[in-house]
Amino acid sequence: MPVITEIEDLRRIYKRRVPKMFYDYVESGSWSQQTFRENSSDFDKLYFRQRVAVDMDNRSTNTTMIGQDVAMPVALAPVGLTGMQCADGEIKAARAAEKFGVPFTLSTMSICSIEDVAEHTSAPFWFQVYTLKDKTFMQRLFDRARAANCSAIVITVDLQVLGQRHKDIKNGLSAPPKLTAKSVANMMTKVRWGMEMLGTKRRFFGNIVGHAEGVDDPSSLSEWTAQAFDPSLDWDRIREFKKMWGGPMIIKGIVEPEDAIKAANAGADAIIVSNHGGRQLDGALSSIRALPAIIDAVGDRVEVHLDSGIRSGQDALKAIAMGAKGTYIGRAFTYGLGAMGEDGVTKSLEIIHKEMDVSMALCGHTDINTVDRSILHIPTGFSGNWEE
Ligand code: GLV
Repeated sequence: MPVITEIEDLRRIYKRRVPKMFYDYVESGSWSQQTFRENSSDFDKLYFRQRVAVDMDNRSTNTTMIGQDVAMPVALAPVGLTGMQCADGEIKAARAAEKFGVPFTLSTMSICSIEDVAEHTSAPFWFQVYTLKDKTFMQRLFDRARAANCSAIVITVDLQVLGQRHKDIKNGLSAPPKLTAKSVANMMTKVRWGMEMLGTKRRFFGNIVGHAEGVDDPSSLSEWTAQAFDPSLDWDRIREFKKMWGGPMIIKGIVEPEDAIKAANAGADAIIVSNHGGRQLDGALSSIRALPAIIDAVGDRVEVHLDSGIRSGQDALKAIAMGAKGTYIGRAFTYGLGAMGEDGVTKSLEIIHKEMDVSMALCGHTDINTVDRSILHIPTGFSGNWEE
């Protein structure tokens, strides 16, 4: 086993160990992938201001997200099909998050169900909600999340229709994988993955199969999304969700200030500045560039979080410095999971924590709660200088 010192090491191992269709699913953006690329590369345009001869003893990255204690302001993002990256993947990732002291967010499109994850963890987790046309299913979904003691719901508002990711179509992405000559040939080279997958019963969309009425085989994500997701989701429906749920609500997928205001008016406790990891509207602004205008618009009313593009503790620290109260990693933990299961998720959290902690210290801070824009050189016009 090579020495693992960075997230990129985990990605390389992950790529070798997991079937191509699931690697490609994670490692893609929509269409030309411009937003997918810029989500990460825009972090490189922000520079830290190094400070020296500052007492760096007694450091802490402890803080809160929606009032809940976190060991660092980095949650695990909801990632569909996580249980296809590694057998029982959602349970393993949730356990790693619990031990580390950061929130785990379970996707509606997970393989392990809400009940599975609740049964195998003790810390409350967050549940991400996609809006399906089936109203009874939606009501039951909130009831199930409540019964599982989830401590927040995360409503995704940027995926009523699916942005096209070319490779998913070319690979015939499905869960479980369809047994074609090509997929079988590829899976034969992923022995450990295959053995573990044969050893679990969790190979289908656990929140959907047996719960949603009148939908055909949900194994093909793109076809099933087009059939079952509700393209008419609007702010009134989100207000209804808030009432149906009755607990903390985070709204995920905001890029424009006008929508941030609508989300705050709909009763969000937090919003996530997110373009879905560059997987939906290709050509949208990167999350880090979109963040400042959103903080200006609603920062005094709701917590503003950020996902999309974070691959290191430095990236997360830059987002916090720009004013985000919390961040999320999706790909960065999935690489760890596919590479080494639960230990790999722990490893990705450790790597990101260390990078954040040391970079914070080198910027002259010992407490994440004191970090602000003053630790950065921000290029003029970074967040845009657009025509009206
Ligand atoms: C679903 O959330 C996806 O991005 O594939």
